[in-house]
Amino acid sequence: MSSHTPPPPKGAEAPVTTLSVRKAKGARKLVMVTAYDYPFALLADAAGVDMILVGDSGGMVVMGRKDTLSVTVDEMIHHTRMAVAGASRALVVADMPFMSYEPGVDAALANAARLVREAGVRAVKLEGGREVAPQVKALVAAGIPVVGHIGLTPQRAAVFGGFKVQAKTAAAAEMLLVDARALEEAGCFAVVLEAVPAPVAGLVTRSIGIPTIGIGAGPECDGQVLVLHDMLGLNTGHVPRFVKKYAGLAGIVQNAFVQYAEEVRSGAFPASEHCFGMDEAEAAALKKAK
Ligand code: KIV
Repeated sequence: MSSHTPPPPKGAEAPVTTLSVRKAKGARKLVMVTAYDYPFALLADAAGVDMILVGDSGGMVVMGRKDTLSVTVDEMIHHTRMAVAGASRALVVADMPFMSYEPGVDAALANAARLVREAGVRAVKLEGGREVAPQVKALVAAGIPVVGHIGLTPQRAAVFGGFKVQAKTAAAAEMLLVDARALEEAGCFAVVLEAVPAPVAGLVTRSIGIPTIGIGAGPECDGQVLVLHDMLGLNTGHVPRFVKKYAGLAGIVQNAFVQYAEEVRSGAFPASEHCFGMDEAEAAALKKAK
């Protein structure tokens, strides 16, 4: 950690658990951010975030794919292991990728067990409402805590006709509430609400006993999650309207590369302070040997 890294916020030192997440509802806002590797997990953890999500969004923001559908369990294990290594206080949650749980309870158990055993994660997230309640129940019964994810579920974006705001009608909002209740009943310890109108997220938040974590779901949620590359301005592609950019790292990083390239080409780098010297006698011997 550099001397520039601020200490975690006061009272934020105890490791975050599923129990402390549940207890936060109504008491304090929960902070979640995605991370896909060791250095960013280390920085997020040191900043005092509550939960680090190793999202399958990594398929897009770190693997450069156009959607999340091709992300595999092996890839999730690889990235989750790196994030787990960087988090000492935050609770790390790993996304279960497309088709790793939809086929049924057995697939969900086998793939979540791999994430727990091979990546060392202690909680998973999966997308869907009532239809995945059996998987959630089985995972929780097996000792694997689950975060739900409803509203815009990117793994099903094709069914929605793209990345579109969900639950815009009263009828659809009621169905979202049914899904949120089903996930709570099945044993989820929190639920992500993505891209739903703020009043709908407020209603769901007030109607269930587990924390809601919003992304594009307004201020009434019990917590917020953002994709790291969006919030840090590392994503040079499309950034959704609901994102707030807290830094502009892409420009900073690119300028550093440009300056480095210029200095290598001009000979300005490396300078004497970047070089190792040689004992004078050895240098003289070397000259003679030539
Ligand atoms: O994959 C992801 O990063 C997510 C968040 C957008 C909630 O699921």
